[in-house]
Amino acid sequence: MAEPTERRNFYGRVHGKTLRASQKDYLENDLESLRLPGVTVEDNPDRTPLDIATLFPTPRPLWVEVGFGGGEHLVHMAALYPQVGIIGCEPFVNGIAMLLGKIRTAGVTNLWVHPGDVRDLFDVLPTACVDKVFLNYPDPWPKARHHRRRFVTPGYLALLARVMKPGAEFRVATDIEDYVRQTLEEVPVAGFDLIRQTGEGEAWDDWISTRYEQKALREGRAPHYLTFLRKG
Ligand SMILES: C[S@@+](CC[C@H](N)C(=O)[O-])C[C@H]1O[C@@H](n2cnc3c(N)ncnc32)[C@H](O)[C@@H]1O
Repeated sequence: MAEPTERRNFYGRVHGKTLRASQKDYLENDLESLRLPGVTVEDNPDRTPLDIATLFPTPRPLWVEVGFGGGEHLVHMAALYPQVGIIGCEPFVNGIAMLLGKIRTAGVTNLWVHPGDVRDLFDVLPTACVDKVFLNYPDPWPKARHHRRRFVTPGYLALLARVMKPGAEFRVATDIEDYVRQTLEEVPVAGFDLIRQTGEGEAWDDWISTRYEQKALREGRAPHYLTFLRKG
C-alpha cells in the first residue's frame, strides 16, 4: 500500500559537489519558470489534482521521467517528440542544474520539472492520465536490507499504476541483475504486463545512453531493458 505523504522517507542524495557559477545561474534564473506548480505539499497542501489540460498549450500525450539524473534522456525525448509533454522528476540539485543547462542548449519547451520526489507528483496527478513512464538506472540499493527502498516496491508501484492509462508503457533500464529480478517480480503484481526484455545493444529505438549507463559499461556491467504495459 502507498504510504501517506507525511510518513515517507527519501534516502537518496539531494546535494553533491559544489555547483559551478553557471549551474547556480541556471538554478536561480531558469528553474522557477520550468518548475511544475501545485506538486509540493507547500504549494498544494490539500493535494488538489492538477488540471492536466492546462499544462501544455495544446492537448498531447503526457510522459514522466523518474530520476532524470543529468537530464540527457529527458532533453533527448523532449526534442525528439515535440508533440508530447514530459514531466521530469529529480531531487538531486546537481542533476537539476545539469538538466537546466541542457534545456538552454536544446531550446526545448515541452517539459516541466519537479525538483523533488516523484511520489509528490504521483499524488497530485489525476487517475489514468500518463501515457509513458521512464525509469532509467534507478538507485540500486544493493544491500538486501535496503531493497525495500527501491522504486520497484509496492508503495511506489501503487502510486505509479494509479496514474498510468490502461495500455500505457513503463520502461525500466538497469545494470543490476538483482534489480531485474525484483522488477520482474513486483511490477506485474502491481498491474503491468511484461512485453519486452532485452540486453546490451538492444535498447529501445529512440534510446539515448545516460550517464549511469555509461558508468555501468565502463565498470563492466551489462544493461537490461524491460518494457511493461499497464493492464487495461
Ligand atoms: C542512479 S541515478 C540515475 C540517473 C539517470 N536516470 C541516469 O540514468 O543517468 C538515480 C536517480 O534517481 C533519483 N531518484 C531516486 N529516488 C527518486 C524519487 N523518489 N523521485 C525522483 N527521483 C529519484 C536519484 O536522485 C538519482 O539521481
